[in-house]
Amino acid sequence: MGIEDFVQRFEDYVVGFVQESAFDQKNIDLKRDHTLRVLEEARRIIASTGLPRDQARPAELAALFHDLGRFPQFDMYKTFQDRRSVNHGLLGYRELKKNDLLNSLGWPDKKWILLTVLMHNRAKVPGGLPGPLDTMLRIVRDADKLDVISVLMAHLITGGQNNSTVTLGLADEPDRFSEQALQQLRSRQMVRYEQMARINDFKLLLLSWIYDLNFAWTRQEFLRREYVSRIVETLPRSQEIRALEQQLLADLMSA
Ligand SMILES: [Fe+2]
Repeated sequence: MGIEDFVQRFEDYVVGFVQESAFDQKNIDLKRDHTLRVLEEARRIIASTGLPRDQARPAELAALFHDLGRFPQFDMYKTFQDRRSVNHGLLGYRELKKNDLLNSLGWPDKKWILLTVLMHNRAKVPGGLPGPLDTMLRIVRDADKLDVISVLMAHLITGGQNNSTVTLGLADEPDRFSEQALQQLRSRQMVRYEQMARINDFKLLLLSWIYDLNFAWTRQEFLRREYVSRIVETLPRSQEIRALEQQLLADLMSA
Protein backbone atom coordinates (compact mmCIF):
# COMPACT_ATOMS: atom_id res chain seq x y z
CA MET A 1 0.00 0.00 0.00
CA GLY A 2 1.28 3.42 -0.93
CA ILE A 3 0.88 6.53 1.16
CA GLU A 4 -2.01 7.63 -1.09
CA ASP A 5 -3.96 4.54 -0.03
CA PHE A 6 -3.52 5.56 3.59
CA VAL A 7 -4.61 9.11 2.75
CA GLN A 8 -7.76 7.56 1.28
CA ARG A 9 -8.29 5.57 4.48
CA PHE A 10 -7.95 8.79 6.44
CA GLU A 11 -10.47 10.56 4.18
CA ASP A 12 -12.91 7.66 4.51
CA TYR A 13 -12.54 7.80 8.29
CA VAL A 14 -13.22 11.56 8.39
CA VAL A 15 -16.37 11.18 6.25
CA GLY A 16 -17.80 9.19 9.15
CA PHE A 17 -17.92 12.39 11.21
CA VAL A 18 -20.09 14.57 8.99
CA GLN A 19 -21.78 17.23 11.14
CA GLU A 20 -25.32 18.54 10.97
CA SER A 21 -24.49 22.20 11.46
CA ALA A 22 -22.27 24.17 9.11
CA PHE A 23 -20.30 25.56 12.06
CA ASP A 24 -19.49 22.10 13.38
CA GLN A 25 -18.61 20.84 9.91
CA LYS A 26 -16.19 23.75 9.54
CA ASN A 27 -14.31 22.56 12.61
CA ILE A 28 -14.08 19.02 11.22
CA ASP A 29 -12.86 20.42 7.87
CA LEU A 30 -10.32 22.56 9.69
CA LYS A 31 -8.74 19.48 11.28
CA ARG A 32 -8.87 17.48 8.05
CA ASP A 33 -7.08 20.26 6.15
CA HIS A 34 -4.62 20.71 9.02
CA THR A 35 -3.79 17.00 8.88
CA LEU A 36 -3.04 17.02 5.17
CA ARG A 37 -0.82 20.07 5.53
CA VAL A 38 1.02 18.50 8.47
CA LEU A 39 1.75 15.54 6.22
CA GLU A 40 3.30 17.95 3.70
CA GLU A 41 5.30 19.73 6.40
CA ALA A 42 6.53 16.37 7.70
CA ARG A 43 7.66 15.41 4.20
CA ARG A 44 9.72 18.59 3.96
CA ILE A 45 11.31 18.01 7.36
CA ILE A 46 12.07 14.40 6.39
CA ALA A 47 13.66 15.59 3.13
CA SER A 48 15.82 18.05 5.07
CA THR A 49 17.11 15.32 7.39
CA GLY A 50 17.84 12.74 4.71
CA LEU A 51 16.05 10.08 6.74
CA PRO A 52 16.26 6.65 5.04
CA ARG A 53 13.19 5.59 3.03
CA ASP A 54 12.26 2.76 5.42
CA GLN A 55 12.01 5.29 8.27
CA ALA A 56 10.49 8.06 6.17
CA ARG A 57 7.30 6.19 5.34
CA PRO A 58 6.26 5.37 8.90
CA ALA A 59 7.06 8.97 9.87
CA GLU A 60 4.73 10.21 7.11
CA LEU A 61 2.00 7.87 8.31
CA ALA A 62 2.40 9.09 11.88
CA ALA A 63 1.92 12.65 10.58
CA LEU A 64 -1.16 11.59 8.61
CA PHE A 65 -2.79 9.95 11.61
CA HIS A 66 -1.48 12.18 14.41
CA ASP A 67 -4.78 14.02 14.98
CA LEU A 68 -7.17 11.16 14.23
CA GLY A 69 -8.60 11.53 17.73
CA ARG A 70 -9.74 15.08 16.93
CA PHE A 71 -12.65 13.80 14.82
CA PRO A 72 -14.40 11.60 17.41
CA GLN A 73 -13.40 14.17 20.06
CA PHE A 74 -15.26 16.94 18.27
CA ASP A 75 -18.11 14.64 17.29
CA MET A 76 -18.73 13.67 20.91
CA TYR A 77 -17.80 16.80 22.84
CA LYS A 78 -17.90 19.65 20.27
CA THR A 79 -14.57 20.96 21.55
CA PHE A 80 -10.86 20.60 20.80
CA GLN A 81 -9.93 21.23 24.43
CA ASP A 82 -8.56 18.02 25.88
CA ARG A 83 -8.99 19.27 29.43
CA ARG A 84 -12.73 19.59 28.85
CA SER A 85 -13.13 16.32 27.00
CA VAL A 86 -10.57 13.57 26.31
CA ASN A 87 -6.88 13.27 25.54
CA HIS A 88 -7.01 13.32 21.73
CA GLY A 89 -3.64 11.56 21.43
CA LEU A 90 -4.96 8.60 23.40
CA LEU A 91 -8.25 8.65 21.51
CA GLY A 92 -6.40 8.64 18.17
CA TYR A 93 -4.28 5.71 19.30
CA ARG A 94 -7.42 3.76 20.23
CA GLU A 95 -9.21 4.63 16.99
CA LEU A 96 -6.24 3.57 14.87
CA LYS A 97 -6.28 0.20 16.59
CA LYS A 98 -10.04 -0.23 16.64
CA ASN A 99 -10.42 0.55 12.93
CA ASP A 100 -7.31 -1.42 12.02
CA LEU A 101 -6.14 1.44 9.81
CA LEU A 102 -2.51 0.25 9.93
CA ASN A 103 -3.29 -3.40 9.19
CA SER A 104 -1.02 -3.76 6.18
CA LEU A 105 2.07 -2.57 8.06
CA GLY A 106 4.68 -4.68 9.73
CA TRP A 107 6.05 -4.58 13.25
CA PRO A 108 7.71 -2.45 14.66
CA ASP A 109 6.61 0.34 12.26
CA LYS A 110 3.02 -0.08 13.39
CA LYS A 111 4.10 0.24 17.02
CA TRP A 112 6.11 3.42 16.38
CA ILE A 113 3.19 5.04 14.54
CA LEU A 114 0.72 4.15 17.28
CA LEU A 115 3.02 5.49 19.98
CA THR A 116 3.76 8.69 18.06
CA VAL A 117 0.02 9.37 17.79
CA LEU A 118 -0.39 8.58 21.48
CA MET A 119 2.44 10.89 22.59
CA HIS A 120 2.34 13.71 20.02
CA ASN A 121 0.44 16.05 22.34
CA ARG A 122 2.57 15.54 25.46
CA ALA A 123 4.06 18.69 26.96
CA LYS A 124 7.54 17.37 26.13
CA VAL A 125 9.18 14.52 24.23
CA PRO A 126 9.77 11.90 26.96
CA GLY A 127 13.39 10.91 27.53
CA GLY A 128 14.80 7.49 26.73
CA LEU A 129 12.57 6.58 23.78
CA PRO A 130 13.83 4.10 21.16
CA GLY A 131 15.64 5.94 18.33
CA PRO A 132 13.07 5.52 15.53
CA LEU A 133 10.19 6.51 17.80
CA ASP A 134 12.06 9.53 19.13
CA THR A 135 12.77 10.73 15.57
CA MET A 136 9.19 10.20 14.36
CA LEU A 137 7.74 11.98 17.36
CA ARG A 138 10.05 14.97 16.83
CA ILE A 139 9.17 15.17 13.13
CA VAL A 140 5.42 15.13 13.82
CA ARG A 141 5.66 17.70 16.61
CA ASP A 142 7.67 20.12 14.45
CA ALA A 143 5.37 19.61 11.44
CA ASP A 144 2.31 20.14 13.66
CA LYS A 145 3.69 23.41 15.06
CA LEU A 146 4.59 24.74 11.61
CA ASP A 147 1.00 24.40 10.49
CA VAL A 148 -0.90 25.16 13.70
CA ILE A 149 0.83 28.54 14.04
CA SER A 150 -0.47 29.78 10.71
CA VAL A 151 -3.98 28.46 11.39
CA LEU A 152 -4.06 30.08 14.82
CA MET A 153 -2.65 33.36 13.59
CA ALA A 154 -5.55 33.68 11.17
CA HIS A 155 -7.89 33.29 14.15
CA LEU A 156 -6.01 35.14 16.90
CA ILE A 157 -5.50 38.42 15.12
CA THR A 158 -8.15 40.97 16.03
CA GLY A 159 -10.53 41.23 13.13
CA GLY A 160 -9.42 37.83 11.85
CA GLN A 161 -11.58 34.75 11.47
CA ASN A 162 -13.68 34.35 14.58
CA ASN A 163 -14.10 30.79 15.82
CA SER A 164 -14.26 30.32 19.57
CA THR A 165 -13.58 26.58 19.17
CA VAL A 166 -10.15 27.50 17.81
CA THR A 167 -9.43 30.37 20.20
CA LEU A 168 -10.63 28.26 23.14
CA GLY A 169 -13.15 30.88 24.22
CA LEU A 170 -10.38 33.19 25.46
CA ALA A 171 -11.10 36.87 26.01
CA ASP A 172 -9.80 39.39 23.50
CA GLU A 173 -8.15 42.14 25.55
CA PRO A 174 -5.73 43.65 23.04
CA ASP A 175 -3.86 45.84 25.57
CA ARG A 176 -3.11 43.21 28.19
CA PHE A 177 -1.00 40.10 28.54
CA SER A 178 0.19 37.82 31.31
CA GLU A 179 3.41 39.01 32.97
CA GLN A 180 3.99 35.45 34.12
CA ALA A 181 3.81 34.13 30.57
CA LEU A 182 6.25 36.83 29.46
CA GLN A 183 8.67 35.83 32.23
CA GLN A 184 8.44 32.19 31.13
CA LEU A 185 9.36 33.18 27.61
CA ARG A 186 12.23 35.38 28.78
CA SER A 187 13.68 32.41 30.63
CA ARG A 188 13.22 30.31 27.48
CA GLN A 189 10.55 28.07 28.93
CA MET A 190 7.32 26.85 27.44
CA VAL A 191 4.21 28.79 28.40
CA ARG A 192 1.59 26.38 29.69
CA TYR A 193 -2.03 26.23 28.59
CA GLU A 194 -3.16 26.87 32.18
CA GLN A 195 -1.39 30.23 32.09
CA MET A 196 -3.61 31.59 29.37
CA ALA A 197 -6.30 34.06 30.41
CA ARG A 198 -6.69 35.92 27.13
CA ILE A 199 -5.83 35.74 23.47
CA ASN A 200 -2.56 37.64 23.89
CA ASP A 201 -1.39 34.98 26.34
CA PHE A 202 -2.15 32.35 23.70
CA LYS A 203 0.15 34.28 21.35
CA LEU A 204 2.90 34.18 23.98
CA LEU A 205 2.36 30.44 24.27
CA LEU A 206 2.77 30.05 20.50
CA LEU A 207 5.96 32.11 20.62
CA SER A 208 7.31 29.82 23.35
CA TRP A 209 7.12 26.93 20.88
CA ILE A 210 10.40 28.09 19.38
CA TYR A 211 12.00 26.53 22.47
CA ASP A 212 10.47 23.17 21.61
CA LEU A 213 11.62 22.80 17.98
CA ASN A 214 13.74 19.83 17.02
CA PHE A 215 15.06 20.42 13.50
CA ALA A 216 17.17 23.18 11.97
CA TRP A 217 14.81 23.15 8.99
CA THR A 218 11.82 23.99 11.22
CA ARG A 219 13.66 26.90 12.83
CA GLN A 220 14.62 28.21 9.40
CA GLU A 221 10.97 27.97 8.30
CA PHE A 222 9.86 29.90 11.38
CA LEU A 223 12.26 32.64 10.31
CA ARG A 224 11.41 32.47 6.61
CA ARG A 225 7.65 32.64 7.31
CA GLU A 226 8.26 35.42 9.84
CA TYR A 227 6.09 33.72 12.45
CA VAL A 228 7.72 35.52 15.39
CA SER A 229 7.43 39.01 13.94
CA ARG A 230 3.92 38.43 12.66
CA ILE A 231 2.72 37.36 16.11
CA VAL A 232 4.65 40.11 17.91
CA GLU A 233 3.09 42.73 15.62
CA THR A 234 -0.30 41.89 17.12
CA LEU A 235 0.85 42.27 20.74
CA PRO A 236 0.85 45.58 22.65
CA ARG A 237 3.79 47.72 21.58
CA SER A 238 6.17 48.10 24.48
CA GLN A 239 9.88 48.03 25.19
CA GLU A 240 9.68 44.62 26.85
CA ILE A 241 7.81 43.07 23.91
CA ARG A 242 10.36 44.47 21.46
CA ALA A 243 13.17 43.08 23.60
CA LEU A 244 11.42 39.73 23.61
CA GLU A 245 11.17 39.73 19.82
CA GLN A 246 14.91 40.35 19.57
CA GLN A 247 15.61 37.48 21.95
CA LEU A 248 13.37 35.06 20.05
CA LEU A 249 14.81 35.94 16.65
CA ALA A 250 18.38 35.69 17.93
CA ASP A 251 17.62 32.29 19.50
CA LEU A 252 16.04 30.99 16.30
CA MET A 253 19.07 32.06 14.28
CA SER A 254 21.67 30.72 16.67
CA ALA A 255 20.14 27.36 17.66
FE1 LIG B 1 -2.88 16.92 17.99
